[in-house]
Amino acid sequence: MSDTMEEGYITEDGRKIGGTLMEMKNITLRFGGVKAITDISFDIKEGEIRAIIGPNGAGKSSMLNVISGFYVPQEGEVWYKGAKRPPMKPYQVAQQGIARTFQNIALFEGMSVLDNVMTGRLNYMKTNMFQQAIWKGKAEKEEVENREFVEKVIDFLEIQSIRKTPVARLPYGLKKRVELARALAAAPHLLLLDEPMAGMNVEEKEDMSRFILDVNDEFGTTIALIEHDMGVVMDLSDRVVVMDYGKKIGDGTPDEVRNNQDVIDAYLGVSHD
Ligand SMILES: Nc1ncnc2c1ncn2[C@@H]1O[C@H](COP(=O)(O)OP(=O)(O)OP(=O)(O)O)[C@@H](O)[C@H]1O
Ligand SMILES: [Mg+2]
Repeated sequence: MSDTMEEGYITEDGRKIGGTLMEMKNITLRFGGVKAITDISFDIKEGEIRAIIGPNGAGKSSMLNVISGFYVPQEGEVWYKGAKRPPMKPYQVAQQGIARTFQNIALFEGMSVLDNVMTGRLNYMKTNMFQQAIWKGKAEKEEVENREFVEKVIDFLEIQSIRKTPVARLPYGLKKRVELARALAAAPHLLLLDEPMAGMNVEEKEDMSRFILDVNDEFGTTIALIEHDMGVVMDLSDRVVVMDYGKKIGDGTPDEVRNNQDVIDAYLGVSHD
């Protein structure tokens, strides 16, 4: 039996979850005197939807930023696909197949939806500007391939009708979807979503939930997401890490963390000693 099969499990809805894809080991992250993350360990399994939850300021975004290479922790190790990852720049992490969205939407507001989603393909554009000038054929072929992939993503997320619209003119919920499209354009192995449904109405949340599930189901993409809406978290995720004041206070299935007293206390605002 392979390691993957030994480590994996089958979800209630019959999806196969594989072995460990990413492992965070004893991560500590400080900003000057502020400890954003204190000695946290958890893993993400192949094909899983893994939620990170916790009150404001708990260190959730910081953790996602460690995974995506935006922050380098002072202590601890990041393991990805069975190997310890050396400190890396975000673009190098992206080249390893990890894409993300941001808590505060980070799109090019003046550019069209299509052009924004195309920026998600940058890692696949091998020819540089100079080469493009002298080697037109190759650059054109690459452009066509990238364009085709992006069109598929646009169809998948049902944003064909706004493909030429400047992002600045879109309502908030659609901007969030365009950001997801840009991340998907990178064809990530691991997708990181920082509050993909924040600020959305019920209908928009339902749409976004469906897209996240479809991405996981149809492409087998592993997903780590931060979300405040507990209903959404319970519906979407296979396992949940709970953070509070930079520490891990819970880790398990949605049911397990829901019944964890430390988690209940943190959410009810019980004081910490
Ligand atoms: N770049 C930074 N410089 C200094 N302090 C930071 C920085 N980023 C985060 N922090 C601090 O680290 C702690 C954790 O912040 P983080 O943004 O990770 O929390 P969060 O759980 O994502 O919160 P929220 O739910 O409000 O998004 C906070 O005390 C925050 O002020
Ligand atoms: Mg955050």
